[in-house]
Amino acid sequence: MTDILIFDTTLRDGEQSPGCSMNLEEKVQVAAQLEDLGVDIIEAGFAIASEGDFEAVAAVSAQCRKAIVASLARANQADIERAAEALRTAERPRIHTFIATSPLHMRVKLGKSPDEVLESIERSVSLARNLCADVEWSAEDATRSDPDFLARAIEIAIGAGARTINLPDTVGYATPQTYGAMFRDMIERVPNSDLAIFSTHCHNDLGLAVANSLAAVMAGARQIESTVNGIGERAGNAAVEEIAMALKVRHDVMPYRTRIESTEIAKSSRLISTITGFQVQPNKAIVGANAFAHESGIHQDGMIKDSSTYEIMTPESVGLIHSSLVLGKHSGRAAFKQKLLDLGYDLGDNAFQDAFARFKDLADAKKEIFDEDIVALVDDEVLRGHDSIQLQEIEVYCGSHGPQRAILTLEVDGEERTAATRGNGPIDAIFSAMRKLVPHEDARLERYQVQAVTGGTDAQAEVSVVLSEGGITALGRAAHHDTMVSSARAYVNALNKLIAKRARSAGNVRASL
Ligand code: KIV
Ligand code: ZN
Repeated sequence: MTDILIFDTTLRDGEQSPGCSMNLEEKVQVAAQLEDLGVDIIEAGFAIASEGDFEAVAAVSAQCRKAIVASLARANQADIERAAEALRTAERPRIHTFIATSPLHMRVKLGKSPDEVLESIERSVSLARNLCADVEWSAEDATRSDPDFLARAIEIAIGAGARTINLPDTVGYATPQTYGAMFRDMIERVPNSDLAIFSTHCHNDLGLAVANSLAAVMAGARQIESTVNGIGERAGNAAVEEIAMALKVRHDVMPYRTRIESTEIAKSSRLISTITGFQVQPNKAIVGANAFAHESGIHQDGMIKDSSTYEIMTPESVGLIHSSLVLGKHSGRAAFKQKLLDLGYDLGDNAFQDAFARFKDLADAKKEIFDEDIVALVDDEVLRGHDSIQLQEIEVYCGSHGPQRAILTLEVDGEERTAATRGNGPIDAIFSAMRKLVPHEDARLERYQVQAVTGGTDAQAEVSVVLSEGGITALGRAAHHDTMVSSARAYVNALNKLIAKRARSAGNVRASL
C-alpha cells in the first residue's frame, strides 16, 4: 500500500483568502484539531509576513508534537532566517521556500532572468538546509513553466538539499491530464528525482483542484497540499475532506493510504467555518449540510430499504453526529459533562460552569436540545476569549409599524453604558446603539450573516459579523436562541477583536507573496 502525506495549509494559504483571517488563539486551536484529523504537515504561516504570522508559527511549533510544522519563506535570506526562528521550538520543523518559475512570473513579478532564478534556488535552498534538516521547495506557477526550465530548477533544488518538491498549480489552470503528465515527466526526467517526495498544490479556479491532486498522485506524487473546506485564495485550494474520502471510498481504483482520521472531518470543517465565518455551501461534497440528505421520495424509499442504494459512504464515517435528542431542562451537571465528553469537549471548571449555565438558559427557552445545539453553545462560550466589552442587556422593539428601536447596555472596561436608538429595522437599531456607546466611525460592517443551528422555529441562531477598518478585519460570532441577542453578541465580539487588532497593528506591515 502506498502512503500519501497530507500537508495542510489552512493556516497559511487558507488564511490568505479575504475575510478568512484568524487570531493566534484560533490558529492554535485549529492546529490542535488538524493533529486530531491526522494531517502529516501543518503549514502554520508565513513567518516574515507579519508579527501575527510569526507568533502563530512559533505557537503552533511549541504545541504540535505529532505533525511536522512548516513556515513559508520566499527565496531570500531574511525570509528564511525568520522562518527558522519561528520554528525554533518545533519538534519536527520544515522550512518551505518558494520562487516563481514561469516566464510570466519571472519577468513581471520578480524582474529576474531564468539564470538568476536558478541561482536564487541554489542559494535559498542551501541556506534553508543549513538552518533546518527538512526543506521543501516550491516552483510557484509550475503549471505555466517551461518544462525544460522546470526540470533544471527541480534538479538544482534537490541538489541543494530539498527533500520535498512541490509543483503548484498556482492559478488553477491545469486539468487532470496536464497536471498528471507534468509529474510523470518531471519524475522521469530529473536525474535526482528519486531523492525527493513530489507534492501537489492545486487551486480551484476551474473546480478541478481535487481531481488534479488525485491525477498527480496517480502519476507519482506522494504529498498533497490542501485545506479544510477548501478555503484559500480566490476559488480556494483542494479540499482535504474530499481528497481523504475519495481515496478511502475509491480505494479500488486508487490504492493509496492517508493518515486522515475521517471521523474528525465534520468537527474540523465546523471549527473552520465557525472561526472564519465562511459557511460551507449546503451542497458541498462531504461536509455540506445536504451531503447526506435525501429529499426525493424515490431516494428516501431506497434509503429505508438499504442505505447503500443512495449512499456511497455513511455520515458517521465523516464524523457527522445524528440529530438525536440529547438533553432537556431536567438534565443535571453529570449528564451535561458526559455529553460534552462524548462530543469531544473537556472543559476546565470555569468554562464548564459557564457552559452549564448557558445550557440551562437554553433548555428553558428551547424544548428540544440537539447535539448541534450543544456544539454551538460551547463553541460560542470557548471561542469568546476575554472580551473587554461585554453585552449586559438588550431590549428590541420591532414590527411592521416602525421605526424599530433598541435599548442596549454594555459594560466597557468595567463601566456600564446604556443607549436607546432607532433604526431601519431592529438589527440596524442595535448596531447604531453599539456605535453610540463605543464610537468607531471609521469601521465598516462588511458582513452580517445568520444561520440556524438546527431545524425548528426555536432553533439557535448562529450569527457572524465582520467589521473592517483601515485594512484590519475582525470577525465576531455568537449563537443564541434569540437572533437579536446573538446579533448583538456577535457584533460585540467583532468590536473587541477590532480594537485589540488596532492596538497591535502599529508598525506591523504585512509582506506580500
Ligand atoms: O499557490 C502557490 O503557488 C502557493 C505557493 C506559495 C506554494 O501557495
Ligand atoms: Zn497556493
